[in-house]
This record gives sequence, C-alpha cells and structure tokens, in this order.
Amino acid sequence: MKKRGLFIAGNWKMNLNLSESLQLAEAVVKGTSQFDNIKVLISPNFVSLVIVSHAAENSAVMVAAQDCHFEESGAYTGETAAEMIKSAGAGWVIVGHSERRTLFGEDDETVAKKLKNVLRNDLKPIVCIGESLEEREAGIQKDVIRKQLDHILETAADLAEIVIAYEPVWAIGTGKTATPEQAEEMHKYIRELIKDSAGQNISESILILYGGSVSLPNAKELLSSPNIDGALIGGASLKADSFIGIAEVAEELSKE
Ligand code: PGA
Repeated sequence: MKKRGLFIAGNWKMNLNLSESLQLAEAVVKGTSQFDNIKVLISPNFVSLVIVSHAAENSAVMVAAQDCHFEESGAYTGETAAEMIKSAGAGWVIVGHSERRTLFGEDDETVAKKLKNVLRNDLKPIVCIGESLEEREAGIQKDVIRKQLDHILETAADLAEIVIAYEPVWAIGTGKTATPEQAEEMHKYIRELIKDSAGQNISESILILYGGSVSLPNAKELLSSPNIDGALIGGASLKADSFIGIAEVAEELSKE
C-alpha cells in the first residue's frame, strides 16, 4: 500500500505531431479509465495541447504544458503564457525540467519566476530538480538538490500545491536508471529538507516523483520505494503499451 497514492506522468517532450498526439491521448484515456487508485498525467507539445486537453476532458487524465513564460503576456516572441495554457484546457505545467535548465539556460531564479507565475494563474506545477553526472561523481548531489529546492521552497507559499520531480540528469534518456536505493536515498533527503522548511504534515503529503529512464521493466521496483510517489516518464511514455503498462503497475501497487 502506498500511503500517498501514485502519480504517473508522461512527458512527451518534442515528439509526436498533432494526429499522433491525439491518438496517444485517446489510447491513454481509454487504457487508464479503470484505474481508480492512481493519478495519470500527460504532457504534449504546445501545438497539441488543446486537442489533447479536449481528448482528456471527460476523463481523470490530467494534462500539462512542458513549460511556460514567467511574464503574464507581452513581447516575448515564441513564448507561451500561463493564462494561455489554462485557456487551452490544461491544468498543469512542468517547470524547470533539466532540458530547459541545461539546453535553454534556465537557472534557479528563472525556474522560481516561472513557478510563481504558474501558481499565480492557479495552475499546478511539477517542479523538476536533479544533479548532473559530474555533480554526482563529485559526491555533491545533495548540495545541488538543496540549492535547487531552496529556491522552490522560497517561492511557493503553499507547498501543498506543488509536485516535485527528482530527475538525476545522468539518468534522463540514457537508459541508465538510478538504482531504487539511489533514488530512495535522494527522495528521503528531499522529504527531510521539506520537513525542515515546511513541517511534518506537508513533508508527509507532498508528492515526489522519480524521473530518468523509467520503463516497464524497472517501474515496479522504483515505485515500491517508500519515498517515491510516482514517475515522470519520457521515452516510455511515447508508446501507449509501455505507458499504460507502467500505470497498471502503479495501480496494482496502490491497491496492495
Ligand atoms: P526519460 O525522460 O524517461 O526518457 O529518461 C524523463 C524526463 O526527462 O522527464
């Protein structure tokens, strides 16, 4: 039995065109409709956000944008505002994904500003944190996480509103998953930091997802760890079979 319930999120990244996104969204809605014990979320590209939100409308499947700008509106060519995401029918935004941080130069301050804007617009954030390979090899992963988390804790007045995703950068898209022990150690550490800053109740209820090469074969072991409350899944979320399969594993674990 998982005390916080499991949250299974698919981050489609820059994959799938409009019709492919609709097809996958419909398959996820259908394939997870019997699962009552878990939460399921999918995150398509911006072009597909409206149609995917529409496909998920009368289901329990939730929809997230993969990013948003920190300003409300204005002359920011190519960017998308939180309010636009809301008007597209999505309820969530992934904030501070490591690809945004490393490929698009988002630092902790930018991530904090985006988080603030998401919350201001009554959207729910999945905020990502995680150390790089060099940082892990240098043994400073906990320092890195503490620093990233500090910005988040300072920004979000109400932590009950946010979901955290711990994604070690070296495990994303590499097929190199953190071992359940490595992931559990970091999740436990994150929960302790949250307890120090926000108290026992929040630290016990906040969801901390693991991300980084989660797949059908490794899902059960990872999701069984006491401090892992779900998964943020990239590659394995692009195929209905594997994503629904992972959701099924979570559903079974939640029932046990
Ligand atoms: P991956 O991506 O499952 O392909 O490693 C996870 C993520 O980046 O959210």
